[in-house]
Amino acid sequence: MKLGVVFMSMIIFAGGVSFADEKSPSEKYGKVVFASEKFKCSQCHGPTGAEGGQGPSFKGVSKKYTHAQLMERAAHKCPPAGACDPRQLAAIVDYLGTL
Ligand code: HEC
Repeated sequence: MKLGVVFMSMIIFAGGVSFADEKSPSEKYGKVVFASEKFKCSQCHGPTGAEGGQGPSFKGVSKKYTHAQLMERAAHKCPPAGACDPRQLAAIVDYLGTL
């Protein structure tokens, strides 16, 4: 009986993560950091990063670069230069991978 409940929750959980627009906690956090006042990425790359502007759109950017290359490029305008929290940058890069 108890095992049945466990199996049921596993099925519900697996179903939940299969939705296309479902983001991981890191991706969700990255989206917030991306648009934040501190990072200002959205000022040049558009409100969600998909639009672009002064800087390029990030649609499909994770197919163009490896995670390490994106970490390097994502830091190009970090305020002050090079001083971004690597965990916040990693979250931004995770988020860019969803575009
Ligand atoms: C002042 C405007 C400006 C800001 C702010 C800015 N960018 Fe950019 N970004 C650009 C421009 C212009 C380019 C293209 C030229 C270059 O690579 O420098 C670019 C390129 C990039 C690229 C490489 C994209 C590609 O397809 O080659 C990444 C990744 C990137 N930016 C991430 C970020 C992140 C993350 C932030 C916030 C921490 C940010 N940018 C803030 C203007 C900006």
